[in-house]
Amino acid sequence: MLKRIDHIGIACRDLDAAIGLYESTFGLTVVSRETNEEQGVREAMLMVADAPAGMSYVQLLEPLGPDTPVGRFIERRGEGVHHVGYGVADIEAALATLGAAGLRLIDARPRHGSMGASIAFLHPGDLGGVLTELVESPGR
Ligand code: CO
Repeated sequence: MLKRIDHIGIACRDLDAAIGLYESTFGLTVVSRETNEEQGVREAMLMVADAPAGMSYVQLLEPLGPDTPVGRFIERRGEGVHHVGYGVADIEAALATLGAAGLRLIDARPRHGSMGASIAFLHPGDLGGVLTELVESPGR
């Protein structure tokens, strides 16, 4: 079901500072910047690898305000790793399989993610405390 790690989502207070850290430390390049009002974040995707199975990224997430999911995460736990996103070939099929297995789906239906992807989050309470995201990229 899971094809690869698509991205690691990292919560940060200052998106430009976080981008600068990853650019200067690791030489990563920003390939996309977006504001997602629905998710309450400003975000940037930095390409890590262009592997045969598909690309992988660091996703830096700055909350649009304190009363957003990422804002509350930073308030409780500070900056750091927020979620892991896995690439899947068919997100509808994956959600159907996981839902039937009893996993709690934060998103029962896919919604819009970065760079035109369809995404859905799975509840961390069923996954060892790890907020997990499924990603079906366009054209795959
Ligand atoms: Co993500």
